[in-house]
Amino acid sequence: MPKEASFLASSIGKKIVMAVTGIMLVGFVVGHMAGNLQLYLPAHGGEHPLDAYGHFLRTMLHGAGIWIARGGLLVAALLHIWAAVTLTKMNMEARPVAYKEVKSQASTLASRSMRVSGFIVLSFLVFHLLHLTLGKIGPFEEGKVFQNVVQGFQSPVISGFYILAMVCLFGHLRHGVWSMLQTLGLSHPSYNTLRDRLAFGVALLVVGANISFPLAVLAGFVKL
Ligand code: HEM
Repeated sequence: MPKEASFLASSIGKKIVMAVTGIMLVGFVVGHMAGNLQLYLPAHGGEHPLDAYGHFLRTMLHGAGIWIARGGLLVAALLHIWAAVTLTKMNMEARPVAYKEVKSQASTLASRSMRVSGFIVLSFLVFHLLHLTLGKIGPFEEGKVFQNVVQGFQSPVISGFYILAMVCLFGHLRHGVWSMLQTLGLSHPSYNTLRDRLAFGVALLVVGANISFPLAVLAGFVKL
C-alpha cells in the first residue's frame, strides 16, 4: 500500500476508535449525571435515594454488574487515550515543521486544547475516585453516598476543584462530540449548525448539572 494510503487508513481507523469509545464515555457521563440528580430528592424512610442508588449499582447482577461496567469503561477510556496519543504522534511525524498559516493554527489550537483538557479530566477522575469511591480525601463512610457528597462539597477547595475540572470537561465534551459526529458521518456542511448545537447542548447539560451540585451544597440548598 502506498505510504499516503496507509497513513490515511490508519488515521481513519484511529478516529473511528476515538469516536466509538467517545460515545461510550459520553453515555457514561450523561447517565452518571442523571443518576446524581437524585441529590435533589428528599430522604425516604430514613434512607436517601442516592444511597439506595449506590447500593443498587454495587449489588446488581449479584455484584457482577458494576465490575462489567467498570471493565467496559476502563477498556473504552484506555482505547480512547491510546488512539489520541498515537494519532497525535502520527500527525507530528507527518509534519515535523510547524504550520504557518492562520487556518491551520486554528485546528492545531483545537487539538492542543483537547489534549490539555483531556489530561485535566483524567487527573480529575483520579481525584474523584480517591474522593468518593475509595474515601481517601476528606470524611467518608462506606455506603453513605449522599453524606459523602455533601460533606465533600461543603469544602470550598474541593468544590472549587470540581467546578474547574467541569469547565475543562465542557470544552472537551463540546469539541469531542462535534468531531465524533463528523467522524461518524454528519460531516456535510449543511449539518454544521446541527452538529454545533448538539455538541454545545450535550456539554451544557452535563456540565451545568454537575456544577450545580457543589454550588447547591455551598449555598446550603442541599444539606445533611
Ligand atoms: C459533580 C459531579 C459529580 C458527582 C456529584 C459525582 C458523584 C459520584 C459518586 C457519589 C460516586 C460514588 C458512587 C458510589 O460509590 O455509589 C462516583 C463515582 C464515580 N464517578 Fe462521579 N460524580 C461526578 C462527576 C463525574 C464525572 C464528570 C466523571 C467522569 C469524567 C465521573 C466518573 C465517576 C466514576 C468512573 C466513578 C466510579 C464508579 C465505580 O466504579 O464505582 N464522575 N461519582
